[in-house]
Amino acid sequence: MKMKQLLSVLLAFAILFSALTACGSTSDEPDSTAGTTSSTEATEEVVTVDRDNTYAYDEDAPSLYEAFSQWFKVGTAMNPSDLEEGTEEFEILVKQYNVFTLENGSKPDAMHPSEDVYNFDALDQLVEFANEYDKTVRGHTLIWHSQCPDWFFYDDEGNTVSAEVLIERLIEHVTTIVSHYKGEVDVWDVCNEVLGDSGGLRDSMWYQIIGDYDGDGDSYDYIEIAFVAAHEADPDARLIINDYSLESSESKAISMYMMVKSMLEQGIPIDGIGLQMHVDYTIDVDTVRSNIDILLKLRNIDPDFVIEVTELDMSCFTWDDTSTEVELTDEFVEQFDTKYTELFELFIELAEEGVLDSVVMWGYNDGMSWLNSYPVSGRTNYPLLIDRDYKLKSTYWSLIDLAASKS
Ligand code: G3I
Repeated sequence: MKMKQLLSVLLAFAILFSALTACGSTSDEPDSTAGTTSSTEATEEVVTVDRDNTYAYDEDAPSLYEAFSQWFKVGTAMNPSDLEEGTEEFEILVKQYNVFTLENGSKPDAMHPSEDVYNFDALDQLVEFANEYDKTVRGHTLIWHSQCPDWFFYDDEGNTVSAEVLIERLIEHVTTIVSHYKGEVDVWDVCNEVLGDSGGLRDSMWYQIIGDYDGDGDSYDYIEIAFVAAHEADPDARLIINDYSLESSESKAISMYMMVKSMLEQGIPIDGIGLQMHVDYTIDVDTVRSNIDILLKLRNIDPDFVIEVTELDMSCFTWDDTSTEVELTDEFVEQFDTKYTELFELFIELAEEGVLDSVVMWGYNDGMSWLNSYPVSGRTNYPLLIDRDYKLKSTYWSLIDLAASKS
């Protein structure tokens, strides 16, 4: 008997069994299956799909974004080459996710490599795809210290430009890009990683050159100018300030809170904070919640202020681990899956509180992850929900089960 036939027979037995037990039970008896499935449909899914051998693009596979649609969108970072119709990559994107970020194609070095050159092709392509398939696009990122070409900061003689010149370049850069995508790109990471690891403002060229330009005592000026320009170019776009370790470092969360509070009080149009969430398998989810609560105090100033999860992945190595291989024992995988499930449980909680509506993974299969080469090169990491062959991992199924149990 082939596997599919065997599973159909099992399904028939399961349906018959559940019908019989339903007839025989009284209404106030506890349901022993509660928490694992929520409906006959979910039961059928559990029984019919061979969880060890399902590809993310299979017709029978569930859809991650549909599973969580009552709470938030689920997205991924991707590259323009993934948009070639008919490929497995394309099918995965369409089926599993409904919000997309270009992993590298909309960063300053890609979009604005020299003063007179803008490259819109990659993001244009994503926008076209999103319009056709009813998806959301995140623009990542307008202002960053990394992947930002030198021409912004230097003149033709190689001297650093004045604050006035850099402000003019900044405004022109932000205005041109955001205007080009007015009404098409729904969310912008306006500024990325403006805080340093210790929590204060990063010592970037933006900060060094523009500094406290308006003389009001803070040096948030380049950030403020970027947000104002973005808002003027597209008043309907959601404008995000994006950073890493906010979920794990209390001091960084407090710095972010203090900085954004000050800017909101001055009327700077910041709609939310992006938590990148490059976490590892030891992440403490209670700490994540308490750090998010610090950020959410900003709702006292702007009741509509949101958070987004913008770059989620979970390394199989702790930060100080320099090894290149990890043994995926049952125990390890169980801990890994449990941490992911706890995080998504928290995301559901936050969505139900009305503060989170978008969770984006930093990639859609383990093979493409930046964590295979950073911080240790030549490493084999498994930080995502889909494996290198595009098969759904047990982690993926844990999340599908979680969604079913909460529905
Ligand atoms: O395009 C060149 C290619 O021509 C060259 O041959 C090759 C040789 O190294 O490099 C290629 O560029 C690489 C680029 O990714 C595209 O693949 C860069 O070296 C590499 O540094 C770059 O890494 C990206 C990294 O940002 C840069 O900081 C990662 O793919 C990308 O995942 C990562 O994404 C960032 C987010 O934007 C912000 N938050 C952290 C996150 C992870 O670092």
